[in-house]
Amino acid sequence: MDPFQWAIDPWGKIVPIHIAWYLIWVTTIAGLLFVIVHAIFVRYFAKPRQFAPDDPPVDPAKIPAHVPRHSLVARTFHWVMAASMFTLLFTAFLPKVGFQFDWVTYHWIAGAVLTASVVFHIFHATFFMDFWSIWPDKIDLRDGWRRTERFMGKPAPPPERFAKYPPENKLYHMAIIAAGFSVIVTGVFMMSRVRTIFFPRNPYLFGDLTWGMMYVLHGLAGVGLIALIMMHVYFGLQPEKREITKSMIFGWMDRDFDLKEHDPTRWRVETSVVETSTPPGRSQGARTEGLTDAG
Ligand code: HEM
Repeated sequence: MDPFQWAIDPWGKIVPIHIAWYLIWVTTIAGLLFVIVHAIFVRYFAKPRQFAPDDPPVDPAKIPAHVPRHSLVARTFHWVMAASMFTLLFTAFLPKVGFQFDWVTYHWIAGAVLTASVVFHIFHATFFMDFWSIWPDKIDLRDGWRRTERFMGKPAPPPERFAKYPPENKLYHMAIIAAGFSVIVTGVFMMSRVRTIFFPRNPYLFGDLTWGMMYVLHGLAGVGLIALIMMHVYFGLQPEKREITKSMIFGWMDRDFDLKEHDPTRWRVETSVVETSTPPGRSQGARTEGLTDAG
């Protein structure tokens, strides 16, 4: 089955024009399968999570009852992006599976909102947030290996507790960057094929082959996002991740959850656990962001 749709250009060359729309179902079913298999694994097979003991031991009295995690600005960005992402997915794919409506205008407007919010996020994350907190560090790589070995039943020390983000969230963020940038960059160019308020329509900006490849990349990243968003919503609704989801609404999480999952030497509460130096190789993420509204 051909994953692309093809056409013949005015010079007789065969060029790609779109992805084949059955790929919508391929990634939807892949996302559903992932969710089902993961849910069965967690329910029946997964062992309780184990972490290495704290070094130095954490004094719970030094952790505030509400640990700030996401500032108002960061939460607003997240929900604006979520709304535009869902609008983009529904406007793009509903017409392709039989629900016809005039989708293009809603689609490019949501695309412009997503583009603006992502540009803002990059600026905000670079200058006002702890930029490195979302990228895997050496401990994540080492612990990723240890967790894999333990999963295979081999002897390995338990991993350390997490910094601000568990490594799974960091990997997910990288996948969203790849898919998100692909739809945004191609989408901005594709806006010149339709009428928008941003620039005059110019379908001759590129040749047919380049346009075709752009539509194909836009479509591939778009269907990839179906599965990625399904996984994201599924994990956000999981009981063990609910504290993290709650923090994306209210900005903070409970001390008990923080003590269970997070390592204050990798992600510090500046209000109490004041440290002037960070051990080598550790994230310098500080938890003042929610308090100061800076990230
Ligand atoms: C979740 C993100 C997105 C998804 C799933 C998505 C999906 C799609 C799909 C499937 C198409 C039809 C492509 C084709 O006919 O081969 C499309 C077209 C289009 N998209 Fe997106 N897109 C997304 C983000 C964006 C963004 C961020 C922009 C703008 C910055 C954008 C602008 C456009 C435009 C202008 C078209 C062309 C309409 C046309 O030529 O008729 N999209 N999109």
